[in-house]
Parts: sequence; C-alpha cells; structure tokens
Amino acid sequence: MSDAKQVWINGKFVPWEKATVHLMSHALSRGSAFFEVFGVHSYTEGPAAFRMSEHLDRLRRSAELLGMEMAYTKDEIAQAVKDTVKHTGLEDGHIKIMAYYSEEAFAVLVPESKLDIGIFAFPTGADLGIDINKPISACICKWRKIHPETVPIEAKACSNYLNGFLARQDAMKRGFDVGLMLDTDGYIAEGSIEACFMFKDGVLKVPPLGRVLRSISRRSIIEAAPVIGIEVVQAPITREEFMDADEIFTSATPFKVLPVGKLEDRIFADAPGPFSRKLAALMADIVSGRDSRFEHWFQPLY
Ligand SMILES: Cc1ncc(COP(=O)(O)O)c(C=O)c1O
Repeated sequence: MSDAKQVWINGKFVPWEKATVHLMSHALSRGSAFFEVFGVHSYTEGPAAFRMSEHLDRLRRSAELLGMEMAYTKDEIAQAVKDTVKHTGLEDGHIKIMAYYSEEAFAVLVPESKLDIGIFAFPTGADLGIDINKPISACICKWRKIHPETVPIEAKACSNYLNGFLARQDAMKRGFDVGLMLDTDGYIAEGSIEACFMFKDGVLKVPPLGRVLRSISRRSIIEAAPVIGIEVVQAPITREEFMDADEIFTSATPFKVLPVGKLEDRIFADAPGPFSRKLAALMADIVSGRDSRFEHWFQPLY
C-alpha cells in the first residue's frame, strides 16, 4: 500500500515527521548539505523522471566539488527513487534528494563520515512561492551572485542558497516577484533558483557556464531550441543589453519557460512574446511526452 507521507532515509522508509536531524547536526550548524530536485511526470505506462540521469550526475558532482562522500552509487540512488515513487504513490510532481551530515558536531569542521541520503516525494501543487500561471516581475537585485572562487557555485549546496534567499528577499521588499543577480563583474548571472534567458531579434541568449549553476532546464532549452529553428548564443550579457531585450524569461525544473512581464521599470506588455511562446509550447510538449524526439530524456520509474 502506498503512503505519500513516507520518506526514504538511508535505505529505509520512515514517517515524514521522523525525517529529522538534531539542531547540532553538522548539516544544520555548519551548512553541510546539498540536494537535487527533478520532475516526475505521469504517462500512460506510469510515472517517468525528467533527465534523472543528469540530475544524479549533478548530485555526485556536488559531493565531489564539496569533498564529501556518498555511501550510495548512482544506480542505488536511482533504485531508491523508484522505490520512493512506488512507496509514496507519486504520479506527478517532484523528487527532492537531500545529502547531509547528520552527525552532531559542536566544533568539528570536517566530518569523516559519509553523507546521509533522504528522498522526498512532492505531488504537483506544492507551493513554489510565486504564481507561475502569469508573467512575473523581476528586478536586478542588490546582491551579486557568489563568486566561484569563494565556494563551488556548481554544487547545489544548501548554504549557497543564502545568496538566493537574499536576492528573493530584496526583490520581495521592492515589490517584485523575483530578483535576478549580476555576477561580481557586473554581467547578468541568474535568479535565486532560476536561470535567465533573453531574446533579441529572434536569437536566444543565455549567460555562459562558469558563474551560474549547471541548470538542467537551461541545458534542455539550449539543446531543444534549435529543433524549432531558434539560434542560441551562450555569452556574457551586460545589464544594458538585458534591459534592452525583446523578451526575457526564467527557467527551472518546475517551470521551463516563465515569461518576465516587467523588469525593473521596463514593461513587456505582450509577454510572453512570440519567441518565448513558441519555445514554451515546445518545452510543454517535451515535458508532457508529446514530442518523441526527446523521449530519451525520461527514465521510467515503474
Ligand atoms: C541558482 C539556480 N539556478 C538555476 C536553477 C535551475 O536549475 P534546474 O534547471 O536544474 O532546476 C536552480 C534550481 O534550483 C538554481 O538554484
């Protein structure tokens, strides 16, 4: 029998309320935790995961970048995700995998243990903090994206999200939905939990890797857009160029093309513009399994 409120922790299912760590755990007191989130979509044969292989590779890469060790192989975690989907009865929604040091640590900075792993199932409808059914408003926020020489920004480390928290908080205080950050050289980087893209004269432009997370939605859009004749350029974007874009959108696992209707005081009255609309339709077809050219992006979980 399935139970939506069960969590996979280190090989066993526990009730949701028991999926806890001590206040003095290293993960909480030192911020040594990282995670992955990916979509689960319901198809005729059963639920399937969007690019799970790439997400599990990024999970491992986070561990490597942080010098932390996982006790499970990629295949073992993939099997645990399948077990979680079956056990919780998840058909459509998201899987969140947490990796963390649960051991209590008062003064220890570098634990020698292996990471604990928790796998959570979230059915569609979980609060995303913004309304994704209409164009959003965005500001260029006062906080800069953390520099890759200070911490590995390609690791999905929970502690890196203090930067994202501050960016979103700054945006909300100023009455915007989301905050987009410049990098420390003044080029457009990304939002708190989202990549950002712009269209100019029909060409899609996106900040290059190096200063931003290796977003799997970003990669998917870069790979898919040429199929409908959209040229994609990965190059630094100045603030002025961004403000002068024809169309802007953000992208992340729960929303592949989320149009920006207002950027600072600039209004995009017809958002989503024609190119964003075309791209959004393509991504919606891909995610719902209607585009057979991208079937290989899904891993069956049944
Ligand atoms: C900083 C940042 N950029 C971009 C993204 C989008 O990444 P993905 O497409 O893999 O969800 C995220 C998602 O969590 C993020 O935290």
